[in-house]
Amino acid sequence: MLHEKTCSAMANLVRVLVMIVIMSGVRFIIIGADGLDMNYYLASCPFVEPIVKDTVNRALQNDPTLAAALLRMHFHDCFIQGCDGSVLIDSTKGNTAEKDSPANLSLRGYEIIDDIKEQVEQQCPGVVSCADILAMAARDAVFFAGGPVYDIPKGRKDGRRSRIEDTINLPAPTLNASQLIRMFAQHGFTAQQMVALSGGHTLGVARCSSFKNRLNKADPALDSEFAKTLSKTCRGGDNSEQPFDPTRNDFDNLYYNALLRKNGVLTSDQTLYSNPTTRNFVNGYALNQAMFFFDFQQAMVKMSLLDVKDDGEVRENCRKIN
Ligand code: HEM
Repeated sequence: MLHEKTCSAMANLVRVLVMIVIMSGVRFIIIGADGLDMNYYLASCPFVEPIVKDTVNRALQNDPTLAAALLRMHFHDCFIQGCDGSVLIDSTKGNTAEKDSPANLSLRGYEIIDDIKEQVEQQCPGVVSCADILAMAARDAVFFAGGPVYDIPKGRKDGRRSRIEDTINLPAPTLNASQLIRMFAQHGFTAQQMVALSGGHTLGVARCSSFKNRLNKADPALDSEFAKTLSKTCRGGDNSEQPFDPTRNDFDNLYYNALLRKNGVLTSDQTLYSNPTTRNFVNGYALNQAMFFFDFQQAMVKMSLLDVKDDGEVRENCRKIN
């Protein structure tokens, strides 16, 4: 009898020990070396995730083109000074901020971030960073547009620097594939990850000013019928919009299929098909949407972790440094 009790107590102890080992293993996987954590706000602001999801969902129901806007804003945040919400800061008398650079003038959707921040501040003041809100909003925008589901670690801090001159490091639409490979490699991305991230252009539009350089002379990489479409768009002026693919609000792989038909809108899009290294990836993603979704979400998680700060602040208002 005593022996049975001892055995059962031992078995329970082993079970508890195994649980502790498993749990600590899980936490080890979830908490990165940078202090970010999938469940960062679990105790401090448990409703932040549903607030972000609901607000993005409502905004997209009103205006589905905002999915593209949120995704692009997150990319432009992360590539300049890391994912620190620096793109959200307004210019002041003494400082022209990133958002007023020509490369950022067509960014939209700041009011969605403000809306989320206001709701979150009411529930848990001073806890959730603007950088995290933007990263979560972009993730949810991709999901609601029909793209892959993915989660990102949270715990980014907001930066205190936002300068127009830093935006020189955003990729220009005139770059060729080798230049893009080099630029993305500076942030730790492979050529394949760069091609997968460029698939963000499955959403949204480019304005004529971003591609009119291609229309001056015959371009063998540009389909002649599509060149006429682009010229027609440009007749509406510099701000006229050309969708990157036939489904501007749906996250799918039609962007890559457009490249196969030489229907890429920007030089930086079509070059991915002209270059032999990147062409293989374009072909792969055009054929296999699941592969694109998988690689895209992995690359997005990586992008969302670029140069994250642990010494920044949690801004009270996403447009102003505290
Ligand atoms: C590979 C280098 C890239 C270049 C050169 C580039 C350049 C551009 C340009 C010029 C536009 C049009 C801006 C305008 O005319 O108003 C644009 C739009 C856009 N970009 Fe990129 N981009 C790049 C990568 C990315 C990445 C990595 C993402 C996201 C993962 C992204 C997401 C978007 C989206 C969603 C739009 C449409 C925005 C809207 O409709 O409001 N881009 N990009």
